[in-house]
Amino acid sequence: MQAILLRQGAKQVELAQVPDPQCLPGQVLVQALDSGICGTDREMIQRQIVDVPRGRDYLVLGHEGLGKVVQTHAPDCDLQVGDLVVPLVRRSCGQCNACNTHHVDYCYTGKYTERGIHKQDGFFSEFYADSPQYLVKVPPRLEDLAVLAEPLSVTVKATRVAASLLNRVKFGGFYSQPGKRERALVAGHGAIGILGTLLLLEQGFDVYVLGRRPRGDFQRTLIEQLGIPYLDATTSQPTDLVKREGGFLLILEATGLSEVTFQLANYLSRNGTMVLTGVPRGPKTVQIDGNTLMANIVRTNQAIVGSVNAYTGCFHKALEYLAVFKKKHPQLMSRIITARYKPEEFEIPFARKDRDDIKVVIDFRKD
Ligand code: BGC
Repeated sequence: MQAILLRQGAKQVELAQVPDPQCLPGQVLVQALDSGICGTDREMIQRQIVDVPRGRDYLVLGHEGLGKVVQTHAPDCDLQVGDLVVPLVRRSCGQCNACNTHHVDYCYTGKYTERGIHKQDGFFSEFYADSPQYLVKVPPRLEDLAVLAEPLSVTVKATRVAASLLNRVKFGGFYSQPGKRERALVAGHGAIGILGTLLLLEQGFDVYVLGRRPRGDFQRTLIEQLGIPYLDATTSQPTDLVKREGGFLLILEATGLSEVTFQLANYLSRNGTMVLTGVPRGPKTVQIDGNTLMANIVRTNQAIVGSVNAYTGCFHKALEYLAVFKKKHPQLMSRIITARYKPEEFEIPFARKDRDDIKVVIDFRKD
């Protein structure tokens, strides 16, 4: 079958013939429909990070998938041939309590694997086999958007992590004032940022988005059309707003930039929580005013917390939210997948990220 893979030492991905996956007892075989390209894939290519499966010199990339079940060797599961599924990314280390209780995203040993990232082939191939516990069934009416379930699951988990911290500063059911809509800031507006924005809106926050795009820019316009204020980080606008109205109770970091992230802490309100989702790779020294940062965190009960990957429950919730978003924001949802390419055209999306791109998908359907 055809697969888009990265070889050790290579600077580019290639489309190659690889052996068909074996569908072992207890597994199901999935035919790929859509597979999404993510910043992590680009970073791996750029930095030549190829964490290959044992005994191999290449890794099939792709960790955001949507496929169709074409064969099942798992008689006891509720998946049938023809069902649409989205696969989870992480696979258990088999050794720790978190993994053994289906919270692979909280693996204690670090010996987990990740499809398309760490030591296991991903979803940029015509077929992949998996055990049903790592596949989440998708309603057919969501086929057009379900490839977004993985990035959305990451934001669902991030908001759950934030909520668990924010719950400790909720009194009598409210945060700062009874009935007040609290402010949330989303930093960055790639797929995670935009989906996170919709999620926080749905959760009742007064959402702002922070970015560096000029007026008229495609992504900025999409956000502004939702009635969401866009704060331009290249001006003093965010700082002025914080001075005038107070900071944000919740900040969702979706930039992957450490130099931006630690500055964002200045925009937190008292008792505020910032949850980080970006995974920068390689070292980078950034300058921060450590004393002020530390004093503020302590004096005002702030929390800065990381959130990686997502567990099954977050994927189910992500699919529910996708249905809600599709209904409430049809315009925006029809524009998040900004381009689709056939596997043979893989060089185009991997060579360069277009400035307007939000989610680019490789479409494995045979038509
Ligand atoms: C994926 C996560 C994964 C993380 C770290 C992200 O791009 O969405 O699921 O755990 O990379 O490898």
